[in-house]
Amino acid sequence: MCGIVGYIGTEVATPLLLDSLKKLEYRGYDSAGIAVLAHEGLVVRKAKGRLTKLEQLLASEAIDGTVGIGHTRWATHGEPSDINSHPHTDVSGNIAIVHNGIIENHAKLRDWLEKHGVTFRSQTDSEVIAHLIDFHYNGDLLQAVRETMARIEGSYALGVLSEDAPDRIIAARKDSPLVIGYGKTGNYIASDVPALLAHTREVTYIDDYELAVLFADHVEFYTEDGDPVQKEICHIEWDVEAAEKGGYEHFMLKEMHEQPKALTDTIRPRIIRDESSGLRNVDMHEVKDFERWKAEDSRIFIVACGTAWHAGIVGKYIFEQFARIPVEVDIASEFRYRNPLCGKNDIFIIISQSGETADTLAAMRLAKRSGAEIVAITNVVGSTLSREADSVLYTWAGPEIAVASTKAFTTQLSCLYLIALKLGNIRGVISHQQLDEHLKEIERIPAAAAKIFDMEDELQRFAARHFNKTKVFFMGRLFDYAISMESALKLKEISYTHSEAFAAGELKHGPIALVDTSTLVVAFCTQRALFEKMDSNMKEVKARGATVLAITFDDVDTFDGTADETLKLPVVLDQFSPMLSIIPCQLYAYYCSILRGNDPDKPRNLAKSVTVE
Ligand code: F6R
Repeated sequence: MCGIVGYIGTEVATPLLLDSLKKLEYRGYDSAGIAVLAHEGLVVRKAKGRLTKLEQLLASEAIDGTVGIGHTRWATHGEPSDINSHPHTDVSGNIAIVHNGIIENHAKLRDWLEKHGVTFRSQTDSEVIAHLIDFHYNGDLLQAVRETMARIEGSYALGVLSEDAPDRIIAARKDSPLVIGYGKTGNYIASDVPALLAHTREVTYIDDYELAVLFADHVEFYTEDGDPVQKEICHIEWDVEAAEKGGYEHFMLKEMHEQPKALTDTIRPRIIRDESSGLRNVDMHEVKDFERWKAEDSRIFIVACGTAWHAGIVGKYIFEQFARIPVEVDIASEFRYRNPLCGKNDIFIIISQSGETADTLAAMRLAKRSGAEIVAITNVVGSTLSREADSVLYTWAGPEIAVASTKAFTTQLSCLYLIALKLGNIRGVISHQQLDEHLKEIERIPAAAAKIFDMEDELQRFAARHFNKTKVFFMGRLFDYAISMESALKLKEISYTHSEAFAAGELKHGPIALVDTSTLVVAFCTQRALFEKMDSNMKEVKARGATVLAITFDDVDTFDGTADETLKLPVVLDQFSPMLSIIPCQLYAYYCSILRGNDPDKPRNLAKSVTVE
């Protein structure tokens, strides 16, 4: 996730900016840069790679300015490169900006600016901001930033410098974090508190649609309409380690809580409105030659490992239901050795959070050699997978640091829904009206996901009652079976509990022999047509002494008399439940891990990125 910093005061800015950027390294980044107002004017230095690269670049020159902004970039639009690194400047090089977030309407704004004579240097969405500020600048930098805010859609935390207003930094935010710090020698901006703690513990959090004007000796706050606002100063008690985790005890907990935002960032820019009908549609420009997917003889293969493979299993149900197209889902390490039957009419969706998993890459290369089209779903711009695939759909979840994958999974699912719905529409399986209704439902998912965290205390108490169970089984049908698999994986990898997933209908073909009074069974019940069947399955395991937790929707009471406990999710269409139903089980696994004395961020024997076979 990008990090922004800024300083205005009486000290030389460069070392302070570098120091603050180092404190944001934990957020993940692929390039870094600074812009300083020095006596010779605006100086920008930036480089792809670690911060040491930038430090080496700066080692040979003394930049004397006391006003500057800095950035660590986690690539989203445009690969990691020197040019795509921030800060970005306007054409004349008078204005510099750093940006964290995603500008959803950047393509439209870029076209418009190009028509007005602007030549872009980078592939980033952020560069439009520098040019727009320049376009609207009329002697008042704050006004120009406000007018720019009115034209950009999406999320942003911004730091802005201009040679014409050397006594100030402008900061603004919408849907991306931004905090102001009050130091002894000057004032700071930062994406996150750890960047400030060496200088101050007195901070003000900027809210959405607010701006701050930082001077060396004071800070002013404004609404987007330009009205002054009074803001509270908060004292930070956290130590650096807690601050890096945003006050959460672990990265995993933070990343689970980030899911509503990660889902919004991944979904929102891809839902557009058709100009003529006003109906929602999916923008699939990232997938080259999407029309080709219409072919009668097309087949989809989904290949991945671990959690990403579970997303693929949900994907199979999604594509088959919404687009009526045959799908094969494979574990990458199996696919690569099974001499698969695939060829140039096939489409491969390769899912990988890191984009670097060795088996997944090998499977992708094998499919590519057969002439098949490769579409990657990945979270890391510039990863090997993103470079070698024919098309890439990024999950805009931000870096995932905890080993156990959480926000990557739910955002991978959201990408699969969007592709399947679009495909269903172009294949004539769902009408434009139905597409609009389904997309409307998808737009509700981030808020519904946020609601699930209201149950966190309840889940924590549930974990306290059951964390020492030696056998935990998850069961469900269709989508719920796929989520059972992902839940069992989460629980085993971080709590080291023996957990398994079963297709509920398979129970009596063997697994039920394992059920006894020491067993906890979590039954996912989100497929309404199969409620009666699930109710019977629950009764079967209860009769053998198991404790049963049912996870269903808020408006369902079918299982209240059967299950020992019931957890209720916000109501959404059955087919969209996986993006929600996994969240309680992520939380449950997390709390079991804590109660068993484990470190959920770094489970034993596991690595975040499996780059060897
Ligand atoms: C489980 C987990 C792993 C990964 C798997 C694939 O929580 O994180 O199972 O999903 O190693 O990794 P990526 O998605 O990076 O290819």
